[in-house]
Amino acid sequence: MKIRVKVLRFNKEVDSKPYYKTYELEVDESAVVLDVLDKIKWKFDGSLTYRRSCRHGICGSCGIKVNKKNVLACKTRVKDMVEKFGPTLLIEPLSLKVPQIIKDLVIDKRDFWEDEKRIKPYLIAAIDEHPKMEHLVTPKEVEKLEEAENCIACGCCYYECESKSENRDFIGPMALAKAYKFVADVRDRAKKERLEIVDELGSGVWDCVKCQACIEVCPKDVDPFTKITHLHNEIFEEGVAKKNVATKHAEGFVHSIKKHGILDEGMLVLYSEGVNVVRHMPEAIAMFKKGKIKLPWQMPKSEGLEEIQKLIEISQTHELKG
Ligand code: FES
Repeated sequence: MKIRVKVLRFNKEVDSKPYYKTYELEVDESAVVLDVLDKIKWKFDGSLTYRRSCRHGICGSCGIKVNKKNVLACKTRVKDMVEKFGPTLLIEPLSLKVPQIIKDLVIDKRDFWEDEKRIKPYLIAAIDEHPKMEHLVTPKEVEKLEEAENCIACGCCYYECESKSENRDFIGPMALAKAYKFVADVRDRAKKERLEIVDELGSGVWDCVKCQACIEVCPKDVDPFTKITHLHNEIFEEGVAKKNVATKHAEGFVHSIKKHGILDEGMLVLYSEGVNVVRHMPEAIAMFKKGKIKLPWQMPKSEGLEEIQKLIEISQTHELKG
């Protein structure tokens, strides 16, 4: 198969800005993107720089962008990419921020590792130095981790995350999924401490914008987004939730569904923000005029409201205040 590969090149020691270099090469039908990089390096240009180690989707070092999506080079088949995007592949590093690019496809991942540290990414447990037997964990208890332990810290989710790109203080999907891994681990003794960290407004789970890009790009099906929603529940269940706009928003959501069976957008903002709702008045008036929000007495009730209310009662783990 003949392909064209456009690779971002940059050496911060000699180049003032990144540029793209195009290579034309023949690859096998079974080739993965890492084979393409190897071939360029070995046959055309030995200075091409990228990270790789295991070649089997285990070490997490070969994360790059292919046609603007974060992937593992060693797990991404060229044939699939060509079928999707045509015969030209655009290969770039995970972050396109120039100060972060060290050389070609290698970036400085210090931000990623610093954010991971914030959730204390290690088991905190009372260790018996001379145990009589191993600490048994049942298959049911392991199920609760829901593949969170499969994370290989490749950074694909972190550098694709919309919240992270807009809010530098956001902990990011990888570290939050890892926080969940320890929260769900029956051996860990720092559940509340971790939940307090991820409950922080501005940096924690409430700042996820729910774009779900992390699910799409995770090469190990860790699904950080679902782990973030589990952390929301744990925060309430463990009584860690502070009364703030984010937790009131979550409560307001349930309140509205319980009352109408559908979402009352107007009341949800009032419930979340209280008197601060006045600053949203111009948008509220515009939405009202377009029929997107209704006055409380105009709100329709959903079909099967009783059924919905019963379902909420069965599944609700947290008592609403007010
Ligand atoms: S080389 Fe190890 S995950 Fe790709």
